[in-house]
Amino acid sequence: MSKVIKGGTIVTADLTYKADVKIEGGKIVEIGPNLSGTETLDATGCYVMPGGIDPHVHLEMPFMGTYSSDDFESGTRAGLAGGTTMVVDFCLPGPEQSLLEALQMWDNKTSRANADYSFHMAITGWNERVFNEMETVVKDRGINTFKHFMAYKGALMVNDDEMFASFQRCAELGALPLVHAENGDVVASMTAKLLADGNNGPEAHAYSRPPEVEGEATNRAIMLADMAGVPLYVVHTSCEQAHEAIRRARQKGMRVYGEPLIQHLTLDESEYFDKDWDHAARRVMSPPFRNKQHQDSLWAGLQSGSLSVVATDHCAFTTDQKRSGLGDFSKIPNGTGGLEDRMPMLWTHGVNTGRLTMNEFVAVTSTNIAKILNVYPKKGAILVGADADIVVWDPKRSKTISAKTQQSSIDYNVFEGKQVTGLPRYTLTRGEVAIEESTVKTKEGHGQFVKREPFQAVNKALSTWKELVAPRKVERSGIPATGV
Ligand code: URP
Ligand code: ZN
Ligand code: ZN
Ligand code: ZN
Repeated sequence: MSKVIKGGTIVTADLTYKADVKIEGGKIVEIGPNLSGTETLDATGCYVMPGGIDPHVHLEMPFMGTYSSDDFESGTRAGLAGGTTMVVDFCLPGPEQSLLEALQMWDNKTSRANADYSFHMAITGWNERVFNEMETVVKDRGINTFKHFMAYKGALMVNDDEMFASFQRCAELGALPLVHAENGDVVASMTAKLLADGNNGPEAHAYSRPPEVEGEATNRAIMLADMAGVPLYVVHTSCEQAHEAIRRARQKGMRVYGEPLIQHLTLDESEYFDKDWDHAARRVMSPPFRNKQHQDSLWAGLQSGSLSVVATDHCAFTTDQKRSGLGDFSKIPNGTGGLEDRMPMLWTHGVNTGRLTMNEFVAVTSTNIAKILNVYPKKGAILVGADADIVVWDPKRSKTISAKTQQSSIDYNVFEGKQVTGLPRYTLTRGEVAIEESTVKTKEGHGQFVKREPFQAVNKALSTWKELVAPRKVERSGIPATGV
């Protein structure tokens, strides 16, 4: 059995050309003109691109006294409907919980996944067991990224000493640290003051986490990573202050990757001033939506390369769940959806406006992510030997985003009413057609865990340099006697 995607234009991160793609056994086996196979998928008028990778999702995440509502089944189905063929979720050990035990719990959530997935491991505390288990996580479990929350004080947050210790351990193991960069102490203090002053509505969530809170933490994490001799990945970069810190670090030669979200690129803070409490609360996430200047900064970062990828941080809560924060914004579960909408929204607001080229679109939704997470070219590529995770993108297909027709299990969509032009004609996951226009053909359980090997090149380069510039005692002869 073979499939041929015929008559389309291949668009990768660096090339645009006309060719057919032949698939067998879930992999790309041939690329060229006039190919034939058992089954033909017509790609006339379409772009044939690597399937999207969302490096940041929370499916069935235990958080703020509840669980996010999309699980690995509905979450990966939503992703496929929008052209995303792989997601990376976060394994979150509880306080004092073993990392390996937490991984077992995360493994148990994934049996119904429709598309491939991987995990980041979160470091939520520090002790000798965590230090030791990190090695098993990297070497035996194929997880090479560790997440650190600088916010959510009293829950997931780690302090600087814990984070620095973990960064150094990442450097030893060939792993990449990730940070949620917001100053959790300042957020906690501002939250308490806002509530004491009677500011208890969802708009106060944004007041409690201004851009400075994010800029400070981003810069701090970058400096700690530099001292630990390890690259750094900053999740959900939402503002100029954080972007500026990343830009500056990159100019100095540091390997720092910034990840704006499609929500921050296309939605702004005015959402929180909506008179409808539900409307505003549904958009509560951390960091919050910002103003147009910050959005322009994020777009500029994608254009110039100072920001590397676009994610969703998909963490969907129903209106009912959001209402647990009525009367106290700090109890509104933080998170929004976006898995189904990331690619169409980015195409519409990026490629269709001339802000991004098609190749840049592929880079930031797939190829850069695969490279940064060390799964390239198994994922993120249209190359012989790569997994046939492919989206056949119809630049003329249009729809109006609506909760009524979405795959996500929640009752609203933060992009409700937005018109998008550019949608999948087909989405293929390891060679299987999961989406054919609006027909969903996903298969529960088809998704497989994707192992990610430790990093070789960047970590080795950084440790070589670190060794070269390490403190060295100056040997002196004729040391003067110490006077008393
Ligand atoms: O508000 C958010 N972003 N919720 C998900 C958890 C996180 O901080 O990424
Ligand atoms: Zn976060
Ligand atoms: Zn509304
Ligand atoms: Zn997140």
